[in-house]
Amino acid sequence: MKKRYPIIGILAVVAVIAVWKLAFTGASDGAHGSVKVPTLSAAAERGERVFAANCAACHGKNAAGSNSGPPLVHKIYEPSHHGDGSFISAVQNGVRQHHWGYGNMPSQPSISPRQAGQIITYVRELQRANGIN
Ligand code: HEC
Repeated sequence: MKKRYPIIGILAVVAVIAVWKLAFTGASDGAHGSVKVPTLSAAAERGERVFAANCAACHGKNAAGSNSGPPLVHKIYEPSHHGDGSFISAVQNGVRQHHWGYGNMPSQPSISPRQAGQIITYVRELQRANGIN
């Protein structure tokens, strides 16, 4: 019996890695669909359209993340850690890679301050609906 333990140990490690990989791939390809979409306010709906056209290519549908950018519906981006100012700054100045391994975010000069505000409203409503306050 004793001889089997190392094999079980190795299998357990392999299983943990497999599950972790699945979870990680799911989170980064945006296909995991774990973002709950609430009924959006009118301003958030406008933000959703601007987001879909300008941000979703990297941040994914419903800000759930993609292979090119992180999810914004994520604890890291809760208001107390990334306040609204960090969204304005990301749009105006871009972002140097620091939290993830996706590379830098280019600035988004086509987004007006008004549209940035609508995007923030949209992302905050998504965050709240997913337990991120
Ligand atoms: C070309 C891909 C790309 C596009 C387009 C893009 N982003 Fe990003 N964004 C990124 C990446 C990558 C990061 C993560 C950088 C890091 O922390 O490593 C990021 C980070 C952010 C952050 C976090 C800023 C911080 O202070 O850490 C915000 C907010 C953000 N993006 C908002 C937006 C919004 C809003 C749009 C659309 C107007 C947008 N992004 C479009 C790639 C993109």
